[in-house]
Amino acid sequence: MNISYKSPGDLEQTRFEKIHSVIFDDSKKASLMIAKEISDLIKEKQKQKKNCVLGLATGSSPISVYQELVRLHNQEGLSFKNVITFNLDEYYPMSKDDINSYNHFMNIHLFDHIDILKENINIPDGSVPIEKINDYCNKYENKIKKCGGIDFQLLGIGRTGHIGFNEPGSNYNSITRLVHLDYLTRNDARKSFFGIENVPTTAITMGIRTIRKSKRIVLMAWGNNKSSVVQKAIEDKIDSNIPASYLQDHKNVTFVLDNAASENLTRIRTPWKTGYSDWNDELKGKAVAWLCEITNKSILNLTESDYNENNLSELLIDSSYYDLNLDFYKKIHRSITGWPGGKPDSDDKARPERSEPPRKRVLIFSPHPDDDVISMGGTFDRLVSQGHEVHVAYQTSGNIAVSNSDVLKFLEVIDSIFPDCASDNNDIIDLLKDNTEIINNARVREIAASIREKESLAATRFIGLEDKNVHFLKLPFYETGTVKKNQTSKADKKIILDIINEIKPHQIYAAGDLADPHGTHKVCLDILFDCLAVLKNKSFMKDCWVWLYRGAWHEWPIHEIDMAVPMSPNQVLRKRKAIFYHQTQKDNVMFQGDDNREFWVRAEDRNREIAKKFRDIGMSDYTAIETFKRYHF
Ligand code: F6R
Repeated sequence: MNISYKSPGDLEQTRFEKIHSVIFDDSKKASLMIAKEISDLIKEKQKQKKNCVLGLATGSSPISVYQELVRLHNQEGLSFKNVITFNLDEYYPMSKDDINSYNHFMNIHLFDHIDILKENINIPDGSVPIEKINDYCNKYENKIKKCGGIDFQLLGIGRTGHIGFNEPGSNYNSITRLVHLDYLTRNDARKSFFGIENVPTTAITMGIRTIRKSKRIVLMAWGNNKSSVVQKAIEDKIDSNIPASYLQDHKNVTFVLDNAASENLTRIRTPWKTGYSDWNDELKGKAVAWLCEITNKSILNLTESDYNENNLSELLIDSSYYDLNLDFYKKIHRSITGWPGGKPDSDDKARPERSEPPRKRVLIFSPHPDDDVISMGGTFDRLVSQGHEVHVAYQTSGNIAVSNSDVLKFLEVIDSIFPDCASDNNDIIDLLKDNTEIINNARVREIAASIREKESLAATRFIGLEDKNVHFLKLPFYETGTVKKNQTSKADKKIILDIINEIKPHQIYAAGDLADPHGTHKVCLDILFDCLAVLKNKSFMKDCWVWLYRGAWHEWPIHEIDMAVPMSPNQVLRKRKAIFYHQTQKDNVMFQGDDNREFWVRAEDRNREIAKKFRDIGMSDYTAIETFKRYHF
């Protein structure tokens, strides 16, 4: 077993786990560790004058690992001359040059930037004629054997539990072959193929046996949409319906997880069941909230037996069940406020925000031009109507999420009103008419950005904000004109530092999508956190509180909520209307994600569901609630 990953100190903690797994705060740190293991192995083999055979994966998970390997090559002289690679899989049919091919993926993320010998690269060929596929797959399998087998296999995990493209039902003894792809897998890939109908239904993949023969296996999983399948693979019985669970049989495998992907493991979700609990106030709150859920009771109705019968007797050593109930009840009760900017002239001990100063400068960061209203539209509305100086800063232009047909519609309107411009726009109109893909053309992207700006202004005006308080930051990392974004740079940070320095806010609101490993929200949050670390000693920052809201899809667990802002039925309707102003993001949205509901429906469902949870644990009965967690920097 590799010793560079820290294992949990207490074996009790992992007693439900059948696969060695380590958890990192975030996927970046975890990726550095994986890249280090790979580079140590390559160097070790170099010393022994041997080849190093790597099994490689594609997808979003390994991108940071490959980035670090490229950095190690460029800056620390790591050579890949002794490396032979075998990729896990490729869509079928698929030409090597297609931008969706894994061949293309590997070139742009790794092979084009290192000194690997081209003849040492092996990726299943998606263009082999169908009648030759079996023969081709056997040769792929034999080539791995001839090279001495795989020394190190890097894996991701699909939401179906697939490894490689071994979907549920795959055989324990399967080898490289042609397979049919699961609907969920194709749906997850639809973003880069511009619709599920364009995602191939079949693929070539190494088999379970091929993978299991590797001498060392590291599987990465980032983000909470993997947490359920990760838990099943690690803790449940081996099951062909969760192919990753076959790895329980392997002697040298590690699952490397970020916090979000680990959140369903017993040691994280309900650590008291493992017999190992480091009780602090947050964990106590988590336990009481969980107890309410499984007993179907409100906080103040929980009894001593409820605690005893559900592995929580340890909690009763230092306090009575009654005190535990009361402490948690008070915490949640205190979090509820109709005054998100603080209630002027009031005793604020029992409120989440300070009453002073009565009129606060508030800076709302919104990763895309609409997250502000989708995620905290009700709170935004209250802050403005309660007289605070509110600013909203849209971090990215969001320009790739405007469909060609929307850009075309606006251009045609302009042309019909100003016929003199028509000839200037003809080329672009032709381009837009003929294309279903995102068009990486500067003018088209500029128009798309402008459409989103005007939609945002319509929404912020509706809320009552003056245009001068609306800032479009257009962070450069986003401006690639494609789904793939640039690395963040000093230029991104400078823009965020400048606006905070200029406004000197008493409150910052930001999208705290900690679980979104590669998306724009997480990148925007990381930039903000870096800036807060830089600014923290400035005197005005001592008065600045940071509140994190969740994006369109997740909610804070109830015990982590520090501020809950209820909405009346009328405010729910106002929020809906503000979201409606973002017309290009309604109906046929370009980047919908896994959830087919429109954004306003998701927001309303989520705000209603959390209000119901508050009611279930014994709080007042509100129509809807928006929630926030305070970030202490
Ligand atoms: C990719 C592969 C797949 C992915 C899995 C996770 O070569 O074989 O098993 O590892 O689908 O994909 P991401 O990392 O995009 O979540």
